[in-house]
Amino acid sequence: MKKILVTGGLGFIGSHTVVELQNEGFDVVIIDNLSNSKIEVLDNIKEITGTKPDLFQIDLRVKKDVVDFFSNNTIDGIIHFAAFKAVGESVQNPLDYYENNIGSLVHILQEMRDRNIDNFIFSSSCTVYGQADELPITENAPIKHALSPYGNTKQIGEEVIIDTCKANNLNAISLRYFNPIGAHDTTKIGELPIGIPQNLIPYITQTAAGIREQLSIFGNDYNTPDGTAIRDYIHVVDLAKAHIAALKRLIQKENKTNFEFFNVGTGKGSSVLEIVKAFEVATNQKLNYKIADRREGDIAAAYADTTLANSELKWKTEKTIEQALQSAWKWQKKQKS
Ligand code: UFG
Repeated sequence: MKKILVTGGLGFIGSHTVVELQNEGFDVVIIDNLSNSKIEVLDNIKEITGTKPDLFQIDLRVKKDVVDFFSNNTIDGIIHFAAFKAVGESVQNPLDYYENNIGSLVHILQEMRDRNIDNFIFSSSCTVYGQADELPITENAPIKHALSPYGNTKQIGEEVIIDTCKANNLNAISLRYFNPIGAHDTTKIGELPIGIPQNLIPYITQTAAGIREQLSIFGNDYNTPDGTAIRDYIHVVDLAKAHIAALKRLIQKENKTNFEFFNVGTGKGSSVLEIVKAFEVATNQKLNYKIADRREGDIAAAYADTTLANSELKWKTEKTIEQALQSAWKWQKKQKS
């Protein structure tokens, strides 16, 4: 059985990926420092799959702890989620973001190099494309100047990996996520935003639940059909499955180059207003919302061309936006009780 290290495995995307890995028969070990996750997630994963993954509560910024971990564990592949992810916070505290997101990555790659560990999956973002000139966005779209330190850590992260792959004969795949939403069908794992949610779907579900008074729609004067911004919202379980497909590609040595990157989205864009309406229909909830000013740093529209991921990873999304919104709402209601 292949042993896979999942860093940040108790987080939103990480926990869903751990479940899919276990479902596929992988032995999973998690490193998570609980900086943006809860220890209970470990038991919740076990409730879904029947197997509790090993957890090492390690901070990947601490080189010695990383070295100790790899000295004591034989690893066949790594899916690296552990990172800070709040765009606004990254503007306030850029050095925290560079230290954590880049420092941790370097520590892991050093161990992979020194111990000849191969098969690395990197958690990247469509943010690397900025406002792309053409939609849908293909992997050939140019990388644009990052709008935030967070976005920059994803760009720099990819460059660090490319250089390492070249120099040290490592094989890696970067998955550029569009907007992950939803929760597991069992409602045992989902998104746990700390404080006031910055992202659209948790803000919507918290508003519907009465935790927030009103959703602000940030801008209705974009150059889009209804004036609100367009994104590609992908069910987190579909996104998790893309990681398994990418990992298998590396393990089976089907990758075409040392470093590959794929867009992971649905291929369909939805406007904020469309999401609000779809949420209301899918959950039979009326949502209190108003139109507000644009949010600084937001782009008008981004959605993926998924042709490459579909053909090369032999992966495609299976869930609808309605299913994703329903699962997010089911999850929200469970948090209240
Ligand atoms: N939005 C609102 N009201 C809210 C929250 C969001 O109208 O209360 C709008 C935003 O303006 C945007 C859309 O909903 O048009 C989606 O916003 P999110 O914050 O959910 O997602 P983003 O596309 O801004 O951010 C996501 C990831 C980031 C990543 C970024 C760019 O959450 O990690 O994509 O790739 F950096």
